[in-house]
Amino acid sequence: MQQSQLTVIGCGVFGRAIVNGLLSDGSDEYRLALTHRRPDALKALKQDYPGAVVTSDNKDALVWAAPAGQSHRHIVVIETQPRYTGDVCRDISQAYTEASGGDKQQLVVITVCPGISVAQLESWLPKGTPIVRTMPNTPISVGQGATALFANESTPEDVVVEMRCIFKRISPVVTMIPREELIDAVASVSGSCPAYIFYMLQGITAAGESLGLDAGATRQLVAQSCLGAAKLVQETPGESLSELLGKVCSPGGSTERAIKTLDRFDTSTAVQAAVKEAWLANRAMEALALGSGSNLFFFRNFNIPPTAKEPMDRGRTVLRPYSAADDLMWIKYGKAPQGHLA
Ligand SMILES: NC(=O)c1ccc[n+]([C@@H]2O[C@H](COP(=O)([O-])OP(=O)(O)OC[C@H]3O[C@@H](n4cnc5c(N)ncnc54)[C@H](OP(=O)(O)O)[C@@H]3O)[C@@H](O)[C@H]2O)c1
Repeated sequence: MQQSQLTVIGCGVFGRAIVNGLLSDGSDEYRLALTHRRPDALKALKQDYPGAVVTSDNKDALVWAAPAGQSHRHIVVIETQPRYTGDVCRDISQAYTEASGGDKQQLVVITVCPGISVAQLESWLPKGTPIVRTMPNTPISVGQGATALFANESTPEDVVVEMRCIFKRISPVVTMIPREELIDAVASVSGSCPAYIFYMLQGITAAGESLGLDAGATRQLVAQSCLGAAKLVQETPGESLSELLGKVCSPGGSTERAIKTLDRFDTSTAVQAAVKEAWLANRAMEALALGSGSNLFFFRNFNIPPTAKEPMDRGRTVLRPYSAADDLMWIKYGKAPQGHLA
């Protein structure tokens, strides 16, 4: 069988999850190349994946010069934080163009970069490159992710099939979305879903402990209850969520009283507002990539106070976010959405 090449640029948490998924059944379907920019991370990658090419140089000839006749497709997964995506794409473009010279591997680019649109990626990459934007979630690190994919028009069906297979290894649910903007909805629904669940579980375990239960045992009990409830939802597709809820709530019973208490606090409305807020934040990131407007706004609703201001090269102002992880919390918008202006 002809081996394809799979390169992970910025092989961190997500990159490792993908690689582990690919290696989990001992298959050598892909010739692997992994890049990182920190020496300690490179050392760890070399130790953990001895069969892979590991390098700090995204344009390394070892990555781009495929062994003759061995590799017909080169899948490049960009895992860096979104602010580095442009530079990485330019590296890829240059390395691919120089390495190939005309006839060679088919380049396919996968991104896990929220807010970086297909149009933006197409402007940085060689013309006609198949591009697949993905929105996985953190349970991919235990092989239980939920992932949405969006492919650009240059992506042939066989590439879509292969991308689905790759993500299936770490994500039992893989969904193709028909329109790119839905990726923001996916990000706020399943991307953030683990956080919503953790939040709920925090409250339940705190209550359990206050009632005298052992912390470790409570954690195990609620985690398994969560897994079991999720399995019930998956395995009874004919039943609506309200039917499933009704089945757990005997009239006048303790669970019904608990749910009525949640209703009294209008919890369902709060959850919907939380998801909507996440969606707005994701849309704002998208606007950054698409942005052609000249105004700059900062979304204060996210409770992320800017810690510093510094000038950008084109005379704009960047409002640095509170958390280094949330690196795209400043946006450039032609027209600001109502009610969310600083
Ligand atoms: N974690 C989530 O819940 C989640 C959910 C959805 C999407 N995502 C997105 O998924 C992507 C990957 O997330 P992750 O958690 O795997 O990130 P991560 O662990 O931080 O891995 C990315 C790594 O890429 C390295 N890097 C940055 N620029 C590079 C370059 N030019 N060349 C080579 N390496 C470079 C970074 O190095 P430094 O450490 O030096 O910066 C970082 O360690 C991000 O875009 C993130 O926004 C994350």
